Amino acid sequence: MNYKQIVEQKVKEIQEKAKQGKDIYVLGIESSCDETSIAVIKNGREVLSNQIASQIDIHTRFGGVVPEVASRNHILCINNVLEQSLKTANLSLEQIDAIAVTYGAGLSGALMVGVNFAKGLALSRNLPLVAVNHIKGHISANYIQNKNLKPPFVCLVVSGGHTAILRVDDYLNHTLIGQTLDDAIGEAFDKVARVVGLGYPGGPKIDKEAKNGQYNLHFVKKSDLDKTYNVSYSGLKTAVINYLHKMEQSHEMINVADVACSFEHEAVDMLVEKTVRAAKEYNINIVAMAGGVAANSYLRETMSKECEKAGLELTYPALVLCTDNAAMIAAEGYNNLILGESINYDLKVSPNPSLKL
Ligand code: KG4
Ligand code: ZN
Repeated sequence: MNYKQIVEQKVKEIQEKAKQGKDIYVLGIESSCDETSIAVIKNGREVLSNQIASQIDIHTRFGGVVPEVASRNHILCINNVLEQSLKTANLSLEQIDAIAVTYGAGLSGALMVGVNFAKGLALSRNLPLVAVNHIKGHISANYIQNKNLKPPFVCLVVSGGHTAILRVDDYLNHTLIGQTLDDAIGEAFDKVARVVGLGYPGGPKIDKEAKNGQYNLHFVKKSDLDKTYNVSYSGLKTAVINYLHKMEQSHEMINVADVACSFEHEAVDMLVEKTVRAAKEYNINIVAMAGGVAANSYLRETMSKECEKAGLELTYPALVLCTDNAAMIAAEGYNNLILGESINYDLKVSPNPSLKL
């Protein structure tokens, strides 16, 4: 039997095992940006290990992620990350049922390292390979955090490349309710952090600095977009940059904490209002959050308050599951495997840097 035939048989066995309530172990691999991560997840929701090798210190020197440097570092550490992950999970490769890997969106060279490593493992061990959409992985982090969570729910997706409000219809499908018309919120955080002198990584630095400031600067006025579920960040970003230039030209002191706090309020408030309004309009009483910006403390706090006021249940992943990690990829891979989706029987999957949600 060739790889395809063996794996087709294995997938059927796995699905049967899951029906009988037997344990399924999925190994997840994530390398779409500057984190090399490998995780082992039991039954799609229980994290046995979630090893993450971050390259933050390396890229800080350059003020942002350098794609070529990221790929090279993934190559250097991916074997060690696998070993550590299996060791922490107290499992050997023989006990793994399937491999899940991020194939997009992300940096082309970085994705290539994870995808090829996954293909090698899958082929050498005759294991099913599930190709995972990184953003769908972010959404699935919520299933790990909240073991009782089931679709439908409304999910606010906020990462470095995405800003969207979705209705998660079931484990495989979602409906787009609203999205950014230009920049992603994470991009805006990173850009504002850079121009205000906080540096890289922008999001966490703004988050920290904002705590010492006040919301006393008003960068954008309410717009027609407020009635829709769409958002825009390029106007806010430009307004902050213009404000900083004006202050510099007139030799006035800039209060970085106030800039951070005011930007954060204006970036976050509109998303919270729209997410809560969407849940009400779509008659859904569960709200979830996903992506790196969901780690933002002001967003977590404001969304909690507003959901409570509106009588909505709110769930969001722990910090380590918000930013890039392989546990969420394994969780999303498990859902696909059990439902027979995205299984790459011919091992021909290739990285898709601009993969859509
Ligand atoms: O989901 P993620 O780790 O990678 C992508 O898939 O893009 O998101 C990265 C983004 C970056 O823009 C980063 O600045 C932002 O998430 N981020 C934050 C925080 N932690 C990470 N933004 C605001 N507050 C944070 N605490
Ligand atoms: Zn991400």
